[in-house]
Formats: sequence, C-alpha cells, structure tokens
Amino acid sequence: MKTISIANQKGGCGKTTTAINLAGALAASRRKVLLIDLDPQSHASFGLGATGQLVDRTIYNVLTDNSEKKREICDCIINVSQNLDIIPSNILLSTLEQELKDKEDAVSKLHQALSNNEKLNYDYIIIDCPPSLGFLTFNALRAAEQVIVPIDMSIFSLMGVSKLLGMLELIKVKINHAPRVDALATLFDKRTKYSQTMLDEIRTFFKSEMLSTVIRMNVSLKRAAANGVSIIQFDKESNGAIDYLSLAKEIFGFEKAPEFEKALEESSQVTQENVTPAPSEETKSYSSPSIKEVTFTINLPEAKEIFLVGDFNNWQISDEHRLSRLSDGKWEKRMNLSPGRYKYKFVADGIWLEDRENSEREKNAFGTFDSIVKL
Ligand SMILES: Nc1ncnc2c1ncn2[C@@H]1O[C@H](COP(=O)(O)OP(=O)(O)OP(=O)(O)O)[C@@H](O)[C@H]1O
Ligand SMILES: [Mg+2]
Repeated sequence: MKTISIANQKGGCGKTTTAINLAGALAASRRKVLLIDLDPQSHASFGLGATGQLVDRTIYNVLTDNSEKKREICDCIINVSQNLDIIPSNILLSTLEQELKDKEDAVSKLHQALSNNEKLNYDYIIIDCPPSLGFLTFNALRAAEQVIVPIDMSIFSLMGVSKLLGMLELIKVKINHAPRVDALATLFDKRTKYSQTMLDEIRTFFKSEMLSTVIRMNVSLKRAAANGVSIIQFDKESNGAIDYLSLAKEIFGFEKAPEFEKALEESSQVTQENVTPAPSEETKSYSSPSIKEVTFTINLPEAKEIFLVGDFNNWQISDEHRLSRLSDGKWEKRMNLSPGRYKYKFVADGIWLEDRENSEREKNAFGTFDSIVKL
C-alpha cells in the first residue's frame, strides 16, 4: 500500500483534479485505490459524485475523538467505481483542528488511522489536501510516503512551494519522517510562451524531483468533474485522460510499464461490455515479458560526462545511468529492460540531446524530440 498526498497551499493549482484523475487512472489499471478527501471544501467528493448521502460517514468522523461522532474508517468508505473508493469530506472537517488542539498526537491522526489496518486492502491511497499549510495538510504529509506538488504555470505557485518544503523539513526534524517529494506541472498551455518559460523555471528549481509528465490544460477535465466521474470514465481519448494515464504509469514505475498497459488493456476490454477481442500481437508479447539487454551509444569525444535518462528511470540523472567512455570517443550504457516502448535522451555535460543515430523520435511537450526504443 502506497500513500500519496497531493499538496500545495496555493489555491486552484490542480490538486483535486490530480487526486481524482490519478486515482481514476490507477483504478483503470486494476489497482485498488482509496481517495481520501481531506479538504473541507469537499471538491474531490463532488468530483466523484460522493456527497450528500452520508453526512456522518466522512473523514471527519474517522479523525475526531468525539465518541458520539467517531466511526471506524471502513464504515466511511464509499465505492464510486470499479477499484475506486472514496472517504468523503464535509465542512465539519474545518472544526477538527480546534477540537484536537490540546491533543499531542493531533498531527498524526490520519497516519494512525491508516497504519496497521488490515481491512484497508488498497494498492494506493491518494489524499487530496486543502489549499493551506495548516493542521490538515500536516496530517496528510505525515501519512504520506510520496507527496505530489501540483504547480500551475504561475509564479505564485512556485513561491508557495518553499513554505511547503519548509513544513516537510519540520516533519523530518520533529518526527523523522521524510516522504519523497515530486513536483507536477499542471494547467500547461503549450500555446503560450509564458507556460514554457514557467515550466523551464520549475524544472530548474526542482531538478530531478519533478515528474516528467506534464498535465496540459484540457476542458474535458472540468466537464468530467461536473459529471462526477474521472476523466478516464468520461473521455478516455481526451488529452486529460492521456496525461493522467501517463502520470499513473510514472507513479506505477516505468519498469512496470508493460504490466500497467496490460492491466489497462484488460480493464478496458471488460468495460467494453465484456466483448473480449483476440489478443493483439502486442498484448501477447506481454504475457511472458522477458528482460532484454539494450546498448545505448553516442559518439561525443569532447564530452566530460554523459547520462542516460528516459521514462524507464523517471528522466532522472543518476550515477546508475552514467555512460562509460570507450577508447574511440564513443560512450555506451547497457541496460536491461522489459519489453515495451521507451522514450530516452542523453544528458551530456548538462545538455539534453536526442540520439542522432536513431531516426525513431517523438515530439515532446517541450517542443523538442525524445528518441524512442521499442523492445
Ligand atoms: N489540466 C486542467 N485543464 C483545465 N482545467 C483544469 C485543469 N486542472 C484543473 N483545472 C480546473 O482548474 C480549477 C482548479 O482546479 P482544482 O480544483 O483541481 O485545484 P485545487 O488546487 O484543488 O484547488 P483548491 O486549492 O481550491 O483545492 C478547477 O475548475 C479545475 O476544473
Ligand atoms: Mg482542491
């Protein structure tokens, strides 16, 4: 079970949209997902059509110490679609901080509720945070193994992040808990130069702690929320669905991409009224994934150091993916990969380069090209 909190105190940067649609995309790949709405505004609950029915079965009822209102966490879970459950929120949640203010363990309430509970049989728990750095967000960070920080293309979003990072530092010092933090670019409008400039700034700020998926602006995301379903159920072909499936795949781990795609393929076959077409050649090849060795080479005699980055390693520069210099000025890196289609680049002395000797390439969200390898 992996717990991921979606946090940024800046309002309107795409937290709830990310929580709902990441949860929907993971559920579509047959992972069991629980979304916890930890925002008294209840937007995630609205966005998945889970409000109104059960006012006394919300996350407030899980976290409160008031014996009249307290409920078991499992009694507050609502199933919203296949593999996707939610614990909704309501406005009462905003009173919780005051209620628990003298309790020593107040900031660990959510962590305690999620820990050591055998009945919580989920692959992922996704927590949608409110737009503040108060007690609720502290609880969410304490409970999380990973924190995704959505950053819309505005300078305010970036400015607020240092405060969030400060809160994480405090949690590390006080409780010795240090979740992995990843920034996620959201509301990206590729038609504006400003979006591109902001994206470059965000990448410079976060360096390797940034997810490679970029969430583009897409009006279908608004329509899906208004209809109370995730974008995967609303319009699987939309850019919003493509981006959130890509994010889910990245969270899932690129090394497991074939497993992810197989699960997705199978679940869409099930939802297509149980009409199961004959497996395609591609699907068949997933049935017995065998690891293959691939050698990546580049001819750059003048370079001092070169790394391989790609969706198989989260586009992160690391010693593990450093190329070795050969005697003739060439560099190489051998890698074991499971069958699939991978995007990659070389980073030579800090400069990102496509593989000029590989004609298979694909335009990326930044207007440059990634090289493609298919196994
Ligand atoms: N990629 C996108 N394309 C188009 N609209 C989007 C996108 N992401 C979010 N929105 C819209 O932007 C608005 C704010 O998004 P969202 O509610 O997800 O932000 P939030 O960070 O959760 O806000 P709050 O801080 O109030 O909780 C919503 O109307 C949402 O539909
Ligand atoms: Mg929200």
